[in-house]
Amino acid sequence: MIDPHAEVIEIEDTGSNPAPAERFTSIAERFLSRRGALLAATALALAPDADAQTTPRRGGPSTLTFDELQHQLAQEDAVADGHRIQYLMRWGDAVLPGAPAFDPLAQTGAAQAQQFGTNCDFLAFIPLPAGSRSSANGLLWVNHEYTSTQIMFPGLPPGGAAARQATNAEQVRVELMAHGGSIIELRRDGRDWRVVEGSRFARRVTAETPMRISGPAAGHPRMRTSTDAAGTTVLGMLNNCAGGTTPWGTVLTCEENFNFCFGGEAADTSDQAAAYRRYGIRRQAIYGWSRFEPRFSLDREPNEPNRFGWVVEIDPFDPTSTPIKRTALGRFKHEGCTYAMAPDGRVVFYQGDDEMDDYVYRFVTARPFNPTDMAANRDLLDDGTLSVAQYRDDGTLRWLPLVFGQGPLTPANNFHNQGDVVIEARRAADLLGATPMDRPEDVETNPATGRVYVMLTNNARRTTPNATNPRINNTHGHVVEMIPPGAGTARVDHAADEMRWSIFLMAGKPGIDAGARYHRATGADGWLSCPDNCAFDSKGRIWIATDGAPGAAGIADGIYAADTLGGGRALTRLFYQAPVGAEVCGPCFTPDDSTLFLAIQHPGENAGSTFANPSTRWPDFQDGMPPRSTVIAITKDAGGPIG
Ligand code: FEO
Ligand code: CA
Ligand code: CA
Ligand code: CA
Repeated sequence: MIDPHAEVIEIEDTGSNPAPAERFTSIAERFLSRRGALLAATALALAPDADAQTTPRRGGPSTLTFDELQHQLAQEDAVADGHRIQYLMRWGDAVLPGAPAFDPLAQTGAAQAQQFGTNCDFLAFIPLPAGSRSSANGLLWVNHEYTSTQIMFPGLPPGGAAARQATNAEQVRVELMAHGGSIIELRRDGRDWRVVEGSRFARRVTAETPMRISGPAAGHPRMRTSTDAAGTTVLGMLNNCAGGTTPWGTVLTCEENFNFCFGGEAADTSDQAAAYRRYGIRRQAIYGWSRFEPRFSLDREPNEPNRFGWVVEIDPFDPTSTPIKRTALGRFKHEGCTYAMAPDGRVVFYQGDDEMDDYVYRFVTARPFNPTDMAANRDLLDDGTLSVAQYRDDGTLRWLPLVFGQGPLTPANNFHNQGDVVIEARRAADLLGATPMDRPEDVETNPATGRVYVMLTNNARRTTPNATNPRINNTHGHVVEMIPPGAGTARVDHAADEMRWSIFLMAGKPGIDAGARYHRATGADGWLSCPDNCAFDSKGRIWIATDGAPGAAGIADGIYAADTLGGGRALTRLFYQAPVGAEVCGPCFTPDDSTLFLAIQHPGENAGSTFANPSTRWPDFQDGMPPRSTVIAITKDAGGPIG
């Protein structure tokens, strides 16, 4: 059997940007002639690989004090000595009062709608009371990205693709209810975190929760369906991967691989066929849902996929509130959406479009954040400027606005209003000349320095390098740093039209993988592959979560930490190792850095793994219990800040 996750990536993450290489040939040519000089200029801390392998497991130039783990592939997870893992919430655990006990042999959609969804991803810890800095009580927002069909249900044929097409109607109900997100309340008693039972904040959001559509695409003819003639209400959200928060206390949860869910002959025949293709929607859906749920058939509801691929804003304090799809932020395969403040109070949201050769975006609100009247911020996300990044080979980048009527975004190119621009944000960005990237996942600002980090997870289809993505066949990915004017001072201009950029690290095994570059002291266990999410601790150190570590090399996904500046810059160290088949998502610290929450996604999802015979039964290790994606909390034995 093929690794179901890899299989999904093979089918869909082949990139849907038709001709990025041609457009950037000239940049690449100029770049190649000065490539060595550029790497030297942008990555001064990086040095040849020869010194690797000889590093102490702690100390040296790094400010991090934990003993790093050794790389391994195992059924269990592991954390650096002196730390403890608590398993907080697993797929199927009760979220709502009265939720039935999890029964993997008789799971129903009705039960799943009250239980923790599967494949947890983005985490946001929101202190309680609201607005406080509590590290002992808070809400945890959790994304539930997708379903690992073949290891969720008994009796399906082997092979991810076959299993996904063989689900029965009830199993499809379970899959829909296992998507979305959860809100749970956490309280810390001494060292132990516990989920507060019966919390008034507890909520499940699913693929059927009614949501309002706002912004430029609301009511657009291409947003209308047979059940929503107005084009303003949609059922649910799909494939929510990473996310962010806002300064006014809401959560942003971002739809990513929604294209997996849709299919039909119209993929090839409709007048929207080119747009479907640009978003990776094909005749054959990855999931078999349209057999029971007609809205996932393009032939029945040609506009339904236009209603997915958005950033969704949710008020975590009101479980009755209606989630809102904020279309001004553009439609693409969003990874996260994280904010930084411009000096004039406008709020800047950085976003990645996770597809090979797709782009890095930014949204700047038109109006400033109002810190004294939270209600005044309610619709800040409906009005502002969406831009896409064009990286230049001189180490600068420019943000290009996606504004109807400007440049090529006119009726001549079939853009008739801003709704068209946001619905087809990818095509608009193509026309503007955005820089095709190696799958932009998280884009996060280091609060200590104001520098912005772009996780570029990999791009095996890259044949033409550009300055910012300098490696062909980039199977291990890299991390790019964007440096806004004023970074390192109290006035960082995240709204500036121009910034500088540099390469923070090139992933892969030093000395083995061409182009791998870290701090010279990065050791045999500190190298990483496929950076995906990241978080910063209060000291400004980066904690990188990976998705796609080479199991064949005996490496599991994990968490790697490093200084971002100073003598220990890019000296990555392995802190946490996931169980086999899993990726690590959602790194999130409490305000005092004493707890690191992680979402461990798709454990046991690897080649040959089935419901009956999974590669691990993490975290329960009970006969008959499948592996379960789980939110964990890591604390230090001695207490105090991690790291
Ligand atoms: Fe869901 Fe881009 O990872
Ligand atoms: Ca991700
Ligand atoms: Ca993922
Ligand atoms: Ca990923």
